[in-house]
Amino acid sequence: MLLYYPNKKQESEILNAGKAKLKAVSGKGLKNKLVQGDNLGILKSLLDDYNLAGKVDLIYIDPPFATNGHFKIGEERANTISSSDDDQIAYSDILLGADFLEFLRERLILLRELMSDCGSIYLHIDYKIGHYVKLIMDEIFGIKNFRNDITRIKCNPKNFQRKAYGNTKDLILFYSKSENPIWNDPKVPFSDEDIERLFKKVDKDSRKYATIPLHAPGETVNGNTGKEWRGVKPPKGRHWRSDPAVLEEWDKQGLIEWSANGVPRKKIFIDERNGKKMQDIWEFKDPQYPNYPTEKNIDLLKFIIGASSHKGSLVLDCFCGSGTTLLAAQELDRNWIGIDKSEHAIRVAKKRLLAIPVNLFSKVDFEFLRETTDSEKRVEKYATKIKMGIFPKKEKIHSVI
Ligand SMILES: C[S@@+](CC[C@H](N)C(=O)[O-])C[C@H]1O[C@@H](n2cnc3c(N)ncnc32)[C@H](O)[C@@H]1O
Repeated sequence: MLLYYPNKKQESEILNAGKAKLKAVSGKGLKNKLVQGDNLGILKSLLDDYNLAGKVDLIYIDPPFATNGHFKIGEERANTISSSDDDQIAYSDILLGADFLEFLRERLILLRELMSDCGSIYLHIDYKIGHYVKLIMDEIFGIKNFRNDITRIKCNPKNFQRKAYGNTKDLILFYSKSENPIWNDPKVPFSDEDIERLFKKVDKDSRKYATIPLHAPGETVNGNTGKEWRGVKPPKGRHWRSDPAVLEEWDKQGLIEWSANGVPRKKIFIDERNGKKMQDIWEFKDPQYPNYPTEKNIDLLKFIIGASSHKGSLVLDCFCGSGTTLLAAQELDRNWIGIDKSEHAIRVAKKRLLAIPVNLFSKVDFEFLRETTDSEKRVEKYATKIKMGIFPKKEKIHSVI
């Protein structure tokens, strides 16, 4: 299934498009990078000039959502609801419909090239445009690499005037580059209600436990887990969870509970579990007093980075805004690259990064780069010519400056 719209480019055209010329302003050559400029040419430059193809383990992006709005930032607040006339525009979100989809598609194709074989991408989007973006991502990353459509509870219920249900969620589309992404299987603590519901039993040492079947789906044809244990075979279509010798050992250690009619079950103690599997509805509300409009909850970013990257992995956010992803990556000992074209975003991101306390083990070091402007490019070109002894005509020099 493909989504068709006018002016959809060929992938080859996107992959061969022009790259940005980057100028190192400070911290030349450091691994962590903050880059100011349009991310399209910059991503191409990361591929071509910085040799980063296949090197990025995790991408999180929170692009504009095609809202047709301007997001303002003021001296005291970055609140999109109560902005004042003196506030400046931090960024505009005015690309709509097919233009927006193609804008995103171009970037996603380059991002796929940057991802390592065990890499993942999380794309944050809203419920109005998100389902079109899902089709684009299926096309770029392959539907087999689609992992989750995560519902994120973003705020408390509000009193909407529309004749519709209130909206408290957005979505995060999660894809991997291959079938074997980095996955740290994050756990969340059991709630009191879970404990009450699942761990009803208490043993002689006052330890709370639950029991699970000793067998699992699937028949073993030749192995021991299909054989009889204590005169009982696993039920049809199932196999023992472990070799009968292990089951025997568990029983000796009192880890198996026998029902009145002789059915064995394994005891699972709550004090030996480090929580339960995270499901696909997440609650990470955004900060009430953000540094930047549409700033995301840093715990959301820490959760994603903890789940889908290792220490030392390279994490990329090419719509980094106030740098939330970069801060989370820094805190979790990952390397990072952040890109944004808004000078307000870059100012806030720098401020937040430089405010991270330096300690013995971590110092926030990063290279700051900026896309060379057209007039800088022209000046450079003429400077090179002059070095080579080719002197441009006077009037041409004027037009350069
Ligand atoms: C929704 S905000 C990201 C907010 C960020 N997640 C945070 O926590 O602060 C989207 C950002 O994308 C940036 N942006 C939009 N188009 C861009 C482009 N073509 N290149 C680079 N940045 C872009 C905007 O300047 C804006 O800062």
